[in-house]
Amino acid sequence: MAARILDGNKIRDEIKQELAEQIQELKASGITPGLAAVLVGEDPASQIYVRSKVKTCESLGLYSEKIEWPADTTTERLLELVRDLNSRNDIDGILVQLPLPPQVDSKLVLEAIDPAKDVDGFHPVSVGNLVRNRPGLVPCTPAGIIEILRRSGVAMKGARAVVIGRSDIVGKPVAMLLLHNHATVTICHSRTQDLPGVAREGDILVAAMGKPAFVTGDFIKPGATVIDVGINRLTTEEEIREIYHDPTGPLEKLKAKGSVLVGDVQPEDAREKAGAFTPVPGGVGPLTIAILMSNTVRAAKLRRGMRAAAKA
Ligand code: GUN
Repeated sequence: MAARILDGNKIRDEIKQELAEQIQELKASGITPGLAAVLVGEDPASQIYVRSKVKTCESLGLYSEKIEWPADTTTERLLELVRDLNSRNDIDGILVQLPLPPQVDSKLVLEAIDPAKDVDGFHPVSVGNLVRNRPGLVPCTPAGIIEILRRSGVAMKGARAVVIGRSDIVGKPVAMLLLHNHATVTICHSRTQDLPGVAREGDILVAAMGKPAFVTGDFIKPGATVIDVGINRLTTEEEIREIYHDPTGPLEKLKAKGSVLVGDVQPEDAREKAGAFTPVPGGVGPLTIAILMSNTVRAAKLRRGMRAAAKA
């Protein structure tokens, strides 16, 4: 039986609908949550992400401010900006889009953000709160993965969960969230011995290592739920022929659009072996911005002492 497709667009719309209601309630009591998005330089992907974040704020009735600075901006100037945003009462969330230009000390900038406004959840205080399972702001993509699992009725309690990838942004935090949801969690990576064998133990398999279609059928336990965090752009016929068993559809797409997106999971194998899986595009990706909006609303509530109302 072909695997169930976990539709990220549908779950994103549900979350946005719920958020719109919360935002109307906050506005009725005179509070408009606000997000500042800081973009340094001209990285095209970052420009698209930031534009999309600001547009989503607007569509939900949140206040947003896009701050675009040139690629030669210094660490000092960014630290001043962050301090200014920290002190402003109309700003509840501060997002500094990564990657920052090489001359900027990214860690220093991220650590200057007031943890109460850390809607990306990258600050060490946020990381500590996550590890301790205390109220705080959780990184967007990992939180989105948990929403997909929860809203799709995938049992985490007692399940074996395997995370491939150990990044600070996805691998480590999603492992921690799965653990808090009572899964038995294994984190593996490029140095793991017998990676396919370890991955095959997962009732839930999260692929977040950034390698196109790296997770093939021999990594997937039959019937497992497979969450694909990768977004890789293929631009040549050779790449497509190497990855797909039947390249017909992707080759047509390449001709029509100039590129094809593939995740970290081989999609034909996922369809055949998994019980359920997130497609690329249209799986995990759409959730990330929805959770950013949710974190901004949560930050607005937490900063005003509305702790019970902000419970995730
Ligand atoms: N660059 C790629 N993903 C992200 C993200 O989630 N947050 C920020 N700030 N930058 C990113």
